[in-house]
Amino acid sequence: MRALILSGGKGTRLRPLTHTGAKQLVPVANKPILWYGIERIVAAGVTDIGIIISPETGEEVRSKTGNGDRFGARITYILQEQPLGLAHAVKTAQPFLGDEPFIMYLGDNLIENQLQGFLTTFQSEHLDALILLRPVPNPTAFGVAKLDEQGRVLELVEKPQHPPSNLALVGIYLFTPMIHRAIAQIQPSARGELEITDAIQQLIRLGHPVKACQLEGWWLDTGKKDDLLEANRLILDSDLTTNIQGEIDGQSQVIGRVQIGVGSKLVNCTVRGPVKIGENCYLENCFIGPYSSIADGVTLQEVDLEHSVILDRASIAGIHQRLVDSVIGQRARLTAAPRRPKASRFLIGDDCQIELS
Ligand code: DAU
Repeated sequence: MRALILSGGKGTRLRPLTHTGAKQLVPVANKPILWYGIERIVAAGVTDIGIIISPETGEEVRSKTGNGDRFGARITYILQEQPLGLAHAVKTAQPFLGDEPFIMYLGDNLIENQLQGFLTTFQSEHLDALILLRPVPNPTAFGVAKLDEQGRVLELVEKPQHPPSNLALVGIYLFTPMIHRAIAQIQPSARGELEITDAIQQLIRLGHPVKACQLEGWWLDTGKKDDLLEANRLILDSDLTTNIQGEIDGQSQVIGRVQIGVGSKLVNCTVRGPVKIGENCYLENCFIGPYSSIADGVTLQEVDLEHSVILDRASIAGIHQRLVDSVIGQRARLTAAPRRPKASRFLIGDDCQIELS
């Protein structure tokens, strides 16, 4: 059994964060989204992992993630020259996948469940494909499945205008090598991509056993800011344990589950968990409220924030308004005039979203 993680593509939806970086490396609770997928796969006993990368962000994914040693896995990077679709990525990875069955995992998906149970069903029922479904309020944004009364998959459609159900395809699939034959028989969709949804539909058409399991735990496709904040909240809620390695002065107060990394310093701050603060951060006169993740090398002075994600080496000073539901990009600088400003000055990049409320 092998695994294929898709970490190529363009990542337009998390702009501007992903103008400069891979969307799969955007951190949730200070850890790249992609790494959660690798950990789930390794926990299911699969250690031979191929990662699809793009020419634009591949080097960053490769240098940050490494050869797999840190996960107890062996990682092979596979370059997909253009984002021509999920099935095209599988086609590109065919030499790596060989004749083995494999887990396919979309690198921007995050799920609560472990994968072992699905793997057991896939193997014991001799399926050619196992897909995971979850009801969603907005099925037009996903691949959608239509089932019969027995729960068998009748039809799969990619981002339909008129969805046949509210059951979205989660970005985790199990396949035998039969999927390669199905991919060879499909054509690019209207949006010009070779769709994995069409390839699975082709397997069904050819009479191969395809099963859908409903996902019980939470699932996030971390494509947008609010999804990212929600993923951050869920992971901090479920995974965070207290671990204080940084320095906290006598004026500071730390309440609840909080992690503070090596080399970080808090001066006259109140931190109310769950909160994760990375390494080498400096925080002075701040209130950090629940569900906040602060990455390495961040500086915060006179800041009041909660339910927010601050990325590497960002710096915020003197914002006398509570920051909530915010994502601040790497190396971003946010400052305010010393007195209550009569006017505001901005230098704002393309596609930024700013709400002054
Ligand atoms: O998240 C679940 C959804 O993922 C499913 O419901 C859809 O059926 C499936 O098509 C997919 O839709 P998305 O529009 O969310 O796919 P996206 O373009 O965001 O790509 C998913 C991941 O695969 C992402 O990490 C980028 C990577 N990718 C994408 C393409 C198109 C590649 O590595 N190569 C590609 O060619």
